[in-house]
Amino acid sequence: MPIFKHLKNKLGVILLAFLLNKIKVESLEHKYSLETRFIEVPLDHFAPSTGSQTFKLRYLINAKYHLKEGPVFVYTGNEGDISIFAQNTGFMFDIAPTFNALLVFIEHRYYGQSLPFGNASFASHENMRYLGTLQVLADYAFVVQHLKHLFFENVNPYDTYPIVAFGGSYGGMLAAWLRMKYPYSVIGAISSSAPMYFFPGMTSCDLFYEKVTRVFEKYDGHVQCTKAIKLGWDVINNLAKTQLGMDFISKTWKLCTKLKTFEDVDLLHNWLSNIYINLALSNYHYPSEVNTPLPAYPVQVFCEKLTTSFFNDTKGLIEHFGHALEIYTNYTGTKRCNNINNSFEDYSEFAWGYQKCTELIMPTCSTDADMFITKPWDYEKYSLDCYKKFGVKTLDPNWPLRAYGGKNLKYYSNIVFSNAMMDPYSCGGVTENVSNTIWSYNINDAPHIVDLRRADTADNNYLIEARSFHIQAIKKWLNMK
Ligand SMILES: *[C@@H]1O[C@H](CO)[C@@H](O)[C@H](O)[C@H]1NC(C)=O
Ligand SMILES: *[C@@H]1O[C@H](CO)[C@@H](O)[C@H](O)[C@H]1NC(C)=O
Ligand SMILES: *[C@@H]1O[C@H](CO)[C@@H](O)[C@H](O)[C@H]1NC(C)=O
Ligand SMILES: *[C@@H]1O[C@H](CO)[C@@H](O)[C@H](O)[C@H]1NC(C)=O
Ligand SMILES: *[C@@H]1O[C@H](CO)[C@@H](O)[C@H](O)[C@H]1NC(C)=O
Repeated sequence: MPIFKHLKNKLGVILLAFLLNKIKVESLEHKYSLETRFIEVPLDHFAPSTGSQTFKLRYLINAKYHLKEGPVFVYTGNEGDISIFAQNTGFMFDIAPTFNALLVFIEHRYYGQSLPFGNASFASHENMRYLGTLQVLADYAFVVQHLKHLFFENVNPYDTYPIVAFGGSYGGMLAAWLRMKYPYSVIGAISSSAPMYFFPGMTSCDLFYEKVTRVFEKYDGHVQCTKAIKLGWDVINNLAKTQLGMDFISKTWKLCTKLKTFEDVDLLHNWLSNIYINLALSNYHYPSEVNTPLPAYPVQVFCEKLTTSFFNDTKGLIEHFGHALEIYTNYTGTKRCNNINNSFEDYSEFAWGYQKCTELIMPTCSTDADMFITKPWDYEKYSLDCYKKFGVKTLDPNWPLRAYGGKNLKYYSNIVFSNAMMDPYSCGGVTENVSNTIWSYNINDAPHIVDLRRADTADNNYLIEARSFHIQAIKKWLNMK
């Protein structure tokens, strides 16, 4: 599913990024057909006098269920190739026939095929400076205006049109923000697993890792999975004191490059942490393929590979972990070696890293209460690291609050915030009803953005009810019975 690859850099900074080019949409079991279109949008929406410069933004359309004057459902694209999100948002396709809806998926600028300066989009700070959420929302409002003219007759700018925004995770934040910033544009927004409050001063930094730990604890049972994982850090660090020990880890875990330095061991820590996080995020009740192919309940499968018998046996522990990790790293058995060096591998990771540095600062820290290696949140280090990577000097931690109102959501209307309670990101979600038009819906026992995925025979009642809540909300906005 839309899923985050978590790049946790040396400083303990979590960068979320979709692993784009590594996913082959063709390989997905279900493939929805979509028509590709491009539209010229202003490069800088906030300098109309110099607004002559434009670039091509991509959007995808499915009109299979659309009847004339039927509503338009718009997915506000995340940090990645839009086709991945379209293919993984089966809920919109599932409900389109009920509403006779047209489906549109808009790509986020600087991702996929929507690069303002082509392959030079990331060549300089000058070229990257149009990458920001305010520009992105203006793109989406721009495209929605265009859609009105394409799909409704005699458009009157003062009329209300049946256009609903959808989004999951970061895309869910954008869907909600589109409704908040451009209420004339969309009549409501379904915002799934969106960490709206995951910004400085709004959410305690330790909650994210705690939530990941809770997912693993669910499978503690006889294997004591979280205890083994916690023990694992000490074992690794002890082995890493000698080159012989590092060689043993490198060989057993089939690392592409041998561990040599303290920095390499730090990379290993981050690589492991990210695997745990991604397992928790993708803990779906059926096999899935978002970042990588995974079995149903991958956390459980991972934990079952561990046994307590190796607790006193260093080498045995490393070997067992090696097998367990293959659930994530090598499920199809085709991976030659593991690259733990998560330097930015593609444009999307780079773009998302930039966004995390320039405006989307989401503080995380690990403590004794979770299964991760202890790491405080260090804003100075985060900031310094951003400067090194992107030459971005000033980071203002209060920017998200000023731009989007923080927790003052009561001034807005017509948004459903759904949270999956087994999703680590729910720690930064809107988990309480705000007003009689800003709703929160908490889905028990569910992982990240599962409600926007297509219906599956293995779905439980919590999930079925959540989707019917969304349908009721949309009907209400559209004045349908
Ligand atoms: C960028 O695109 C141009 C024109 O298509 C091409 O000639 C050039 O090789 C590309 N550069 C890179 C680094 O991909
Ligand atoms: C990671 O990448 C950096 C920069 O490319 C390199 O210097 C370092 O040796 C690599 N480390 C590992 C463990 O692959
Ligand atoms: C590990 O060793 C300790 C003492 O050295 C012992 O009390 C404990 O039972 C051992 N645990 C296992 C699982 O062998
Ligand atoms: C992946 O699995 C195959 C088949 O079991 C094995 O030969 C290969 O060494 C594994 N690679 C890694 C990186 O675990
Ligand atoms: C919010 O209100 C709706 C409608 O009354 C209800 O179904 C839902 O459970 C409430 N959400 C929370 C988080 O209490």
